[in-house]
Amino acid sequence: MKALVLSGGSGSRLRPITHTSAKQLLPVANKPVLYYGLEAIRDAGITEVGIVVGDTAPAIQEAVGDGSAFGLNATYITQDAPRGLAHAVLIARDFVGDDDFVMYLGDNFIVGGISELVEEFAVGRPDAQIMLTHVPDPRQFGVAELDALGEVVRLEEKPRQPKSDLALVGVYIFTPAVHDAVRQLVPSWRGELEITEAIQWLIDNGRKVRSTTITGYWKDTGNVVDMLEVNRMVLESLQPAQHGTVDASTEIIGRVLVEHDAEVSGSRIVGPVIIGAGTRVSGSYIGPFTSIAGDCTIADSEIEYSIVLGGASIRGVRRIEASLIGHDVEVTPAPKVPKAHRLVLGDHSKVQISS
Ligand code: DAU
Repeated sequence: MKALVLSGGSGSRLRPITHTSAKQLLPVANKPVLYYGLEAIRDAGITEVGIVVGDTAPAIQEAVGDGSAFGLNATYITQDAPRGLAHAVLIARDFVGDDDFVMYLGDNFIVGGISELVEEFAVGRPDAQIMLTHVPDPRQFGVAELDALGEVVRLEEKPRQPKSDLALVGVYIFTPAVHDAVRQLVPSWRGELEITEAIQWLIDNGRKVRSTTITGYWKDTGNVVDMLEVNRMVLESLQPAQHGTVDASTEIIGRVLVEHDAEVSGSRIVGPVIIGAGTRVSGSYIGPFTSIAGDCTIADSEIEYSIVLGGASIRGVRRIEASLIGHDVEVTPAPKVPKAHRLVLGDHSKVQISS
């Protein structure tokens, strides 16, 4: 079995936080989302991985290289434009050959990996094995309708009026039957060749499509609340260690990972917290469930339950919470405006002024 990892997409589809970089490289506990996917693929016993890349190919290639760091053998497949998930399957035909393959969307995060899914597929080998999950707003996803026996009967991409709250998770397993399906497709209303329609084609043509419903799932939907939550979940199992330097006046409580060349002084760090390589923390409080990436500066500040991306600097800011702070951002206190109230108050007025 091979794997096809989709890491293309154009900048225009991305949220503000990722407009300058690939969304698959957004970090969770200081590690790009894509890495978790590659590790899950390796853990499922797959070594041959095709990575579909688009506009952000240089960043993805720099991050993954030849795949050997993950125990994988990576082949890059260039997609000229994000023409859809099924288009990615079309252009990967030579790479995939006649093998079964896992298709993994590089911006998806599956808690617990995909080994079980791969094992399930091996039993009975359906033409498509899909993963579903209950979501609060199915309109942002492909949505599945199941019959009374739990068989998938209909799939719809980003429906305005979803028939269920079961969203397609971005991991699919296919036999070569999918190649016939993707060849039949025409672009959808959003101008893409939809994998959802390819799977529907398999159902309509009497091929076997099987689904599993999972719970631990997250995708970059631009939703900061979800991203902080997945960061929290991953930090829960953080292995504490101090590779950088921590001075004697710093108090470290709970599971804290201080990466190489990080320097922490005069601070209080309450884990789980990860402090990235080359980051300087001084005179600050860093509270639970915070990931500070590499080369950041946190000085005379307080931050908790947050994600700070590489190169950001936070100085003199008390209490940042539940925040996502992008690459190279600078956060400083606003200059104090002189306070004065000019009042014309009639006799016997009662005025409350906060000062
Ligand atoms: O995440 C799950 C959802 O992924 C499913 O519920 C939907 O049925 C499925 O269509 C897909 O929806 P999105 O519209 O959210 O996919 P997105 O455009 O975000 O692309 C997913 C990944 O695939 C992302 O890492 C970018 C990459 N990609 C996307 C397209 C359209 C490519 O590499 N090439 C492409 O042409």
